[in-house]
Amino acid sequence: MFAIIGGTGLTSLNNLEIVHRQVVRTPYGDPSGPLTLGRIAGQDVVFLARHGYGHTYAPHRINYRANVWALKHVGASEVISVASVGGIQERYAPGALVIPHQIIDYTWGRASTFFEGEEDPVTHIDFTLPFTPALRERLIRAARRAGEPVIDGAVYACTQGPRLETAAEIDRLERDGANVVGMTAMPEAALARELGLAYAAINVVANYAAGRGADANEISFTEIEETLSETMARVRHVLEAFAAQGE
Ligand code: HPA
Repeated sequence: MFAIIGGTGLTSLNNLEIVHRQVVRTPYGDPSGPLTLGRIAGQDVVFLARHGYGHTYAPHRINYRANVWALKHVGASEVISVASVGGIQERYAPGALVIPHQIIDYTWGRASTFFEGEEDPVTHIDFTLPFTPALRERLIRAARRAGEPVIDGAVYACTQGPRLETAAEIDRLERDGANVVGMTAMPEAALARELGLAYAAINVVANYAAGRGADANEISFTEIEETLSETMARVRHVLEAFAAQGE
């Protein structure tokens, strides 16, 4: 079964045939909300709204461990993350869909591993490729089938939030090699790897990052909302094609 973690702008899926909702308690506390189990294009799927159904959890307050643990607990083996980002270079323009291939983690103070109890042996995971290559490929194939253009590859910079970045911070991220900036891929991607779940992401470029684009002095939240509401239909379309194509 695959899981979808929906971000800002994707708190429900209207192409999801809901079978039931399930409240899951975990050793790490409560997930962002109940899980929605159902079917898309005949495939079993579990959906979770990352920020909660009322968008109540800011990126640094999300219980990533509980979310990932709960998805595994109900039988998910792969996770597709949907998350909005800011685009740093012109190519990553508002409205673009991006399948990132790398991450740089700038977050701090988040509970970012399952292995920290006194009784847990220290465990390191390989994280050379933070997004599972085979799952990325299937997503890209699904997007092609759906006729939705996607950008194959981006370095995702994960910032702490909840504020957006300064223009100088974006300059620094660009010097580091980043292409898009968001606040939620970490520790989510690493936790999925720790539990042996495949993980890939569809990023929706909601805005040009700070100091970029036409309005370089300010980011408009109205524009972000407009872009997201126009683009999420395309994301749903890709997810439906992903489900329909199977493995
Ligand atoms: N920065 C960080 N996260 C984001 C942005 C941004 O500009 N846009 C959407 N998520």
